[in-house]
Amino acid sequence: MIRPVRIAASILAADFARLGEDVARVEPFLDLLHVDVMDGHFVPNISLGLPVIRSLRAVSNLPFDCHLMITDPADYVEALSGAGATGITVHMEAVPDPTGVARMAREVGLEFGVVINPATPFETMDPFLELCDIVLVMSVEPGFGGQGFISSVLAKVEAARKAIDNRGLDVALEIDGGIGPDTIGAARSAGADVFVAGTAIFGRPDPVAAISELRDIASSRDRPVVGGGD
Ligand code: DX5
Ligand code: ZN
Repeated sequence: MIRPVRIAASILAADFARLGEDVARVEPFLDLLHVDVMDGHFVPNISLGLPVIRSLRAVSNLPFDCHLMITDPADYVEALSGAGATGITVHMEAVPDPTGVARMAREVGLEFGVVINPATPFETMDPFLELCDIVLVMSVEPGFGGQGFISSVLAKVEAARKAIDNRGLDVALEIDGGIGPDTIGAARSAGADVFVAGTAIFGRPDPVAAISELRDIASSRDRPVVGGGD
């Protein structure tokens, strides 16, 4: 069964010179902070790493949903936990069998999930759903914020929703990339329950209003349609 809508703000779109202030402003209105870790190898960009996570942990009580766009996530699991991550997601393209890294994550108390790129079929992650607290479907190519939503990935969100429900799994279903007021409704209808937004939150003049708008649009898809007026 689909869970209530949760909004995760991607700090990639925040002002890194004022990161603490940007996070403090939105923290009361968020469910998760989405932390995009990039190594310049798995993706053609470098973002942030352990020292930033540690500094944020000192000023935030949110769960840190750490999206690891890195080639060797297993090497960093323990350090990420020590720095204050609460959950990690690892790419199937980097770790085709995530069984070992999932076990490592559990041993240090992290929630665990797998991610697929837009071109990677859902079937790649399907055998590993039982290992996961969360599964993430990318709706842009990983590496950069501010890209356009790739709507063809919604079929994979629907497939993941069906698999989770059919097997009665307690797994969250996250979507990341190009989520904004124009796209979040379709993502909710396809079955997602965690929505990552960077530009659509931190790129707006009023990030708090932006979060509430996103939550309202997504949640409105859950209401039964009342028609006829009688
Ligand atoms: C892309 C990242 C996303 C990104 C989302 O590699 O994984 O989390 O920050 O940014 P927007 O919401 O701007 O598409
Ligand atoms: Zn991300």
